[in-house]
Amino acid sequence: MHIERLEKIFIGLGGVLLAIGIAAIGASVFAADVHLPAPSGRVDPRTVRSTAPFNQPGLKQTGPNQYEAVIVAFTWAFQVSPDIATNEIRVPVGANVTFTVTSTDVVHGFMIERTDVNAMVIPGQITKVSYTFDKPGEYLIICHEYCGTGHHTMFAKVIVA
Ligand code: CUA
Repeated sequence: MHIERLEKIFIGLGGVLLAIGIAAIGASVFAADVHLPAPSGRVDPRTVRSTAPFNQPGLKQTGPNQYEAVIVAFTWAFQVSPDIATNEIRVPVGANVTFTVTSTDVVHGFMIERTDVNAMVIPGQITKVSYTFDKPGEYLIICHEYCGTGHHTMFAKVIVA
């Protein structure tokens, strides 16, 4: 009799926790607008370098303090400018940057430290993520998806000044 009552309370608590969990997911998606980066297009990984916009990687201004950074990820670097030796992007404070990224080979990661930018770069797909850089500083872009022996050398920088 007594044990049965405790069981009912535990089942009830389980239900309450489940409802709180579902409500929290609902609040993050619908109220806080939290969502996973979605693929926003497709591109043949074999012809990335001759397909727009990836045939001209780099930063373009698209509006007032609005930029698009076209980036090609490959083993083992991020090409962030027409000059392959450059691995820096420079933007002013307050810039909203949309990163348009794809891979020519394997799956890479695209994470910018001290931001909520955290996406996968999948060959054949175009990854788009945006971020507003309100604070000056250097932000490291790193590949956080193991992609081979040079994985740890794969990085670039956003310099906000
Ligand atoms: Cu690219 Cu790890």
